[in-house]
Amino acid sequence: MASFEQGGEREVTYWIARAHWGCGIATRALRLALAELPTRPLHARAAADNAASIRVLTNCGFVVCDTDRGFASARGAEIDEVLLRLDA
Ligand SMILES: CC(C)(COP(=O)(O)OP(=O)(O)OC[C@H]1O[C@@H](n2cnc3c(N)ncnc32)[C@H](O)[C@@H]1OP(=O)(O)O)[C@@H](O)C(=O)NCCC(=O)NCCS
Repeated sequence: MASFEQGGEREVTYWIARAHWGCGIATRALRLALAELPTRPLHARAAADNAASIRVLTNCGFVVCDTDRGFASARGAEIDEVLLRLDA
């Protein structure tokens, strides 16, 4: 779980070891992080085909607000992304 500033906006991101996917860890970790992070709006981006990550974010109150193209270093390619924000 990480939070960083980019282009004047604070973003969150996370990575769970594959052996532990689907156990609710990302959702719980993000909820805990949001309680520690007072900055609003808070931003996040996910690969458009990463339904699990988008679900984690929307389950924590983020809403999809835009789309973008961006380089995903994990995939070594430019991909379609979904941009999300949390206002409250
Ligand atoms: C995306 C990732 C963080 C999810 O972590 P996780 O601990 O498995 O997530 P959780 O178990 O908390 O929640 C996953 C949610 O997605 C849902 N989900 C999982 N696979 C899905 C799919 N293929 N389609 C739709 N929903 C899906 C689950 O049902 C769950 O939603 P629910 O709580 O409403 O049932 C994890 O897969 C990961 O680290 N992936 C690699 C790195 C990555 O993609 N990071 C995000 C960068 S934006």
